Amino acid sequence: MTGDEALLEEARHAAEKAYSPYSKFRVGAVVVADDGSVFTAANVENAAYGSSVCAEANAIAEAVGNGVRSIATVAVACLDGDDCTPCGNCLQMMREFGVKRIVTENRDYTLEEMLPHSFGPESLE
Ligand code: THU
Repeated sequence: MTGDEALLEEARHAAEKAYSPYSKFRVGAVVVADDGSVFTAANVENAAYGSSVCAEANAIAEAVGNGVRSIATVAVACLDGDDCTPCGNCLQMMREFGVKRIVTENRDYTLEEMLPHSFGPESLE
């Protein structure tokens, strides 16, 4: 099993905990911080649909709430579709914490590929 396959396996496992009664689309995400610490989460939906939170956003919040400020990799997997790539809001959250690589079932990406010409913390300096 490659490192990426192990991360995807962990993301699939996290997706089993999804609370997604509305979309029925279960997503799991794994955040690997620069210091090697690992955080996982699933998507959590809400009857007020706009209050739903993606798996990636929950995993990033968990990492940051535990002191992480620099993230190397985010892996994302879904149980109810072929592949799942992060939404724009999650890409922007990844941008804040310097994510280098995004691993999905189909392929991996750099953040720069998925969110080119982005606005980030240094834009405010
Ligand atoms: N979702 C994620 O958790 N991550 C993604 O990368 C795409 C979509 C969730 C949000 C919502 O709960 C469900 O999948 C359908 O959009």
